[in-house]
Amino acid sequence: MNDLRTALADLLDGLPPREVAAAVDRLIANYRGDTPTHAPILRDRADVAAYAAYRMPATFEAVRSALAALADALPGWTPAGHTDVGGGTGAATWAVQTTWPGERAVTVLDWAEPALAVGRRLAAAHPALKDARWQRARIGADLTLDDTDLVTVSYVLNELAEPDRAALVDAAARAARTVVIVEAGTPAGYARVIEARDRLIRAGFRIAAPCPHSAACPIAPGTDWCHFSARVGRSSLHRQVKGGSLAYEDEKFSYVAATRLPAEPAPARVVRRPQIRKGQVLLDLCEADERLSRGTVTKRHGDLYKAARDADWGDAWPPYDSAS
Ligand SMILES: C[S@@+](CC[C@H](N)C(=O)[O-])C[C@H]1O[C@@H](n2cnc3c(N)ncnc32)[C@H](O)[C@@H]1O
Repeated sequence: MNDLRTALADLLDGLPPREVAAAVDRLIANYRGDTPTHAPILRDRADVAAYAAYRMPATFEAVRSALAALADALPGWTPAGHTDVGGGTGAATWAVQTTWPGERAVTVLDWAEPALAVGRRLAAAHPALKDARWQRARIGADLTLDDTDLVTVSYVLNELAEPDRAALVDAAARAARTVVIVEAGTPAGYARVIEARDRLIRAGFRIAAPCPHSAACPIAPGTDWCHFSARVGRSSLHRQVKGGSLAYEDEKFSYVAATRLPAEPAPARVVRRPQIRKGQVLLDLCEADERLSRGTVTKRHGDLYKAARDADWGDAWPPYDSAS
């Protein structure tokens, strides 16, 4: 992440802060619209620099968090190739590199050339990403992807109409053995994740994370939404645009990681922030037997109680390493 922060700081160097702040304001307004677009939103260098500096640390942390859960479910696995579709400035390529450091064949596809140009420039600073291929491609019915181990699709589905979302998930399912989809942690983002999850299961994938099973999601439609939270350090640009002095903010995201490989999904997943009370911890869990539950772990549970005090929203429960 520090590498990414440094690369982003270099990118902004020389751009007038006011111009970048204005571009960020425009982007926020655009993304609030939450509607599919017919032309790239990231139009020019200031737009892209603003996106990269303002949003990329947050999308990076969200994807990294989803990949950490995937890595837990696929111990010992390392992707030999990665394609990031709608990859923009490449946040997911940095997240994959952080999760599984090392050289691999990396391709980033996007229809916005200015985004690809900035992504290429940022990645030039990273020894394992400098040879990534940054290619223009439009997501649509005729999208075909080369075979690879891992396809990521982060914060893209909300920019697509339903037929293109379906075409993208189908293309990913044909090309990759493992597919990770990340969206904003809103009811609409969750709905798009569930739509993609169902499609991947129909294509023969199993869920590696966050769900402990590959059956239907136990959340009754419209009553709640499954989402998680990733902590993101704020840059000086954030403080300039949003004001305030908080050193961090929490990025809410929804995700699904699905695979054709034999995975070990979590026995259960913590789906809300645990509530720590005197002598006990309340855990809201999504369970392998396809239901949501609230568990209370007390001091009498010994080591499990210690683990519960350390448990965080989004963690596997019990933790993967506690069984050994
Ligand atoms: C919100 S950005 C996310 C970028 C990156 N994946 C991330 O997580 O930071 C959405 C990206 O999807 C791309 N995109 C949107 N619709 C597209 C389409 N029909 N074909 C190709 N790329 C598209 C945009 O150009 C943009 O780079």
